Amino acid sequence: MDKDIFAYRLKEAMKKKRYKQVDLVRTAQEEGIKLGKSHISQYVSGKTVPRAENLLFLANILGVEEAWLTGESNQLQAENAGEESMETIKKSSKLDNVLYDVRGPVVEEAAKMEETGTRILKLNIGNPAPFGFSTPDEVIYDMSKQLTDCEGYSTSKGLFSARKAIMQYAQIKKIPNVSVEDIYTGNGVSELINLCMSALLDDGDEILIPSPDYPLWTACATLAGGKAVHYICDEQANWYPDMDDIKKKITNRTKAIVIINPNNPTGALYPKEVLQEIVNIARENHLIIFSDEIYDRLVMDGEEHIAIASMAPDLFCVTFSGLSKSHMVAGYRIGWMILSGNKEIAKDYIQGIDMLSNMRLCSNVPAQSIVQTALWGNQSVENYVVPGGRVYEQREYVYNALKDIPGISVVKPKAAFYMFPKLDTKKFNIVDDEKFALDLLKEKKILIIHGGGFNWKEPDHFRVVYLPELGVLDDAMGKIADFLSHYKQ
Ligand SMILES: Cc1ncc(COP(=O)(O)O)c(C=O)c1O
Repeated sequence: MDKDIFAYRLKEAMKKKRYKQVDLVRTAQEEGIKLGKSHISQYVSGKTVPRAENLLFLANILGVEEAWLTGESNQLQAENAGEESMETIKKSSKLDNVLYDVRGPVVEEAAKMEETGTRILKLNIGNPAPFGFSTPDEVIYDMSKQLTDCEGYSTSKGLFSARKAIMQYAQIKKIPNVSVEDIYTGNGVSELINLCMSALLDDGDEILIPSPDYPLWTACATLAGGKAVHYICDEQANWYPDMDDIKKKITNRTKAIVIINPNNPTGALYPKEVLQEIVNIARENHLIIFSDEIYDRLVMDGEEHIAIASMAPDLFCVTFSGLSKSHMVAGYRIGWMILSGNKEIAKDYIQGIDMLSNMRLCSNVPAQSIVQTALWGNQSVENYVVPGGRVYEQREYVYNALKDIPGISVVKPKAAFYMFPKLDTKKFNIVDDEKFALDLLKEKKILIIHGGGFNWKEPDHFRVVYLPELGVLDDAMGKIADFLSHYKQ
């Protein structure tokens, strides 16, 4: 018997049962077992191990197997059925209210089906590369040329050349008061969303986040201890934010408002008037504006994307973007954020951001090395979003196909590559949208994400990613129509 293992396990078992050494001594006395204080303290300190009789007594009273106590077995039998094993490793309770269904249970079920050889059509994730959207050649060439120069860490905010290129992009988008020092690169926008929420939110601080949202925002705010307060985006009004709802939800703990423009999952693009109203509300209530603009180059119908920060020089704004979508390099992991406007009022917060940025050392350096080329070289994405281009034509196709399905209505998106159709819940008797997604998956092998995955409270929506080729989309829409021709929950 290994003394150290025995001592460790004895202490663990005592802790679990909340037994102190005196409790063991007293019980032993009651049962006529010769087990004194000095014995126990020697066991606990790993000096000696018990003889057979005492070992049996300890195992019984602590509700564990002798073999487990002595280290001969790792199998811990709980005394009472259903009692938790001491060896399970539990996740932090900080994750209890965190939701991220874009890679959640329905997706897990799809993975299981794939393992058994079923082919699944994935309309669930905005990952362009698997659908034949390849990275521009120039970007690949430039990265390969610079790879050997990217072996070390960069400064924590990122390479000067990358940040300078982003700064120039900020100038083109008329974002005011931005120097190279106000730009931080990240391993995707994802890392920076997390960083910004962690640096800002104390327990119970509130942040306004759209519903539906890109769920990482809510997840990161919650994980940081904050309270995500969802404001409604109104389907009847092109999915624009409902200003009255925003105003109603502001309290003295509200620190910031998040907008996602262009929007995932609705594909909405906010016009100037809508942005102006949000700026006005932020101004009146001293809110930070976080604007996630990762789809700003995927805008259709001749519309122009406006950076909200360009309209708020007197407020503190953080604008997020990156290359994952516009340059089809989601796997390279490169995004950035731009601090702008009134940075004076945010000095302390910026110190927090700097601290967290330093702690992660830096973002992926090879990916930073292509920012300049990507932002200022040939923009292949422009060909995708005009008539004849893949994203444009696929949107037209899916929009027309969906709106022709009885029981579905849908707002035509202006940007990005998502649609957020509405289901007639009465017609299909739908009460659980996750079940709807699961049933569709099982019957038609099509993977979509239910509206609840985007913090949408009613069970009446789902998101479709229209990245696959037209032929594939045609097949998918036919199957969804067929499924809904008989589906009832
Ligand atoms: C609105 C939005 N923000 C951020 C991200 C994350 O992007 P990244 O690849 O830069 O981490 C996504 C990804 O789908 C997104 O849709």
